[in-house]
Amino acid sequence: MRRIVLAFVLCCALCTATFAAEAKQALILAAFGTSEPAATVALEDIGKAYTASGQPIIWAYSSNIIRKKLAGQGKPVHSVSEAMDTAAAQGATELLIQSLHIVPAEEYIKIQRQIVQNLCAKPNRFTAVRLGHPLLESAQDQQEVILALQQGLPAQRKPSDAVIFMGHGNDRGAGDLILDSMARALHEKDARMWLATVEGAHSFDKVLPQLKAQKIKRVWLVPFMLVAGDHARNDMAGAEPDSWASQLKAAGMDVKPVLAGLGSNKAIQQIFLRHSATAADDLVSGKQTRE
Ligand code: CO
Repeated sequence: MRRIVLAFVLCCALCTATFAAEAKQALILAAFGTSEPAATVALEDIGKAYTASGQPIIWAYSSNIIRKKLAGQGKPVHSVSEAMDTAAAQGATELLIQSLHIVPAEEYIKIQRQIVQNLCAKPNRFTAVRLGHPLLESAQDQQEVILALQQGLPAQRKPSDAVIFMGHGNDRGAGDLILDSMARALHEKDARMWLATVEGAHSFDKVLPQLKAQKIKRVWLVPFMLVAGDHARNDMAGAEPDSWASQLKAAGMDVKPVLAGLGSNKAIQQIFLRHSATAADDLVSGKQTRE
């Protein structure tokens, strides 16, 4: 009898050890998304930076409008909640969900909400769920992003040329204040660099008179978004009279749009990778799991 009990205890210990060793991690990359085929290159580029470490990716888009559009074209992409379900179905027990948003604003708040809702509705599937923060949050992020933007400028940009970065902006969360700080820091670093946003508090109307006052001759327009999608192609570089390019041209300036998203910038990729490596807040245990 003692032998049987001992065997049972040993078996249980082995089973527990085997189960513990089987903790399986999954990586979810959560971007706003794009339905613009030419813009997906920036997502592929940042995806490659992650797969270089050998980790498979489950993609998620936070934009419901874009997911609906893609689904209609027979190209469905998961929401964050669906990506969590897929990870669970694949046997993952630990999740790292990396936000590929630029600032913690409307879309980042949305994915936080979805993660909490999923964990509450379907508990006990994961032993740890960590969330990697967006690109721009800390003073270190800001300094590194400015350097990344400068390094990413076309070699033909002369110091006398202006550069306007197009961010998105919205009135949710801390995004607009962070973009405000970024706009000031960029302009301080190089008085011919500006940041303006499509929505939110930093409209192009505030920047245009400054360029006119400085008698700028040539302007580079660069997306401050993960992909060069609809906003970059139409609101920034489009032929419509109210696009930024058209307004600058109407003011007599030579306009050079750059249609590349931040996801293709190697230094930007490194900042996201750092955020993934330092993601510490475990939403399951409520502990900080890494310092
Ligand atoms: Co938009």
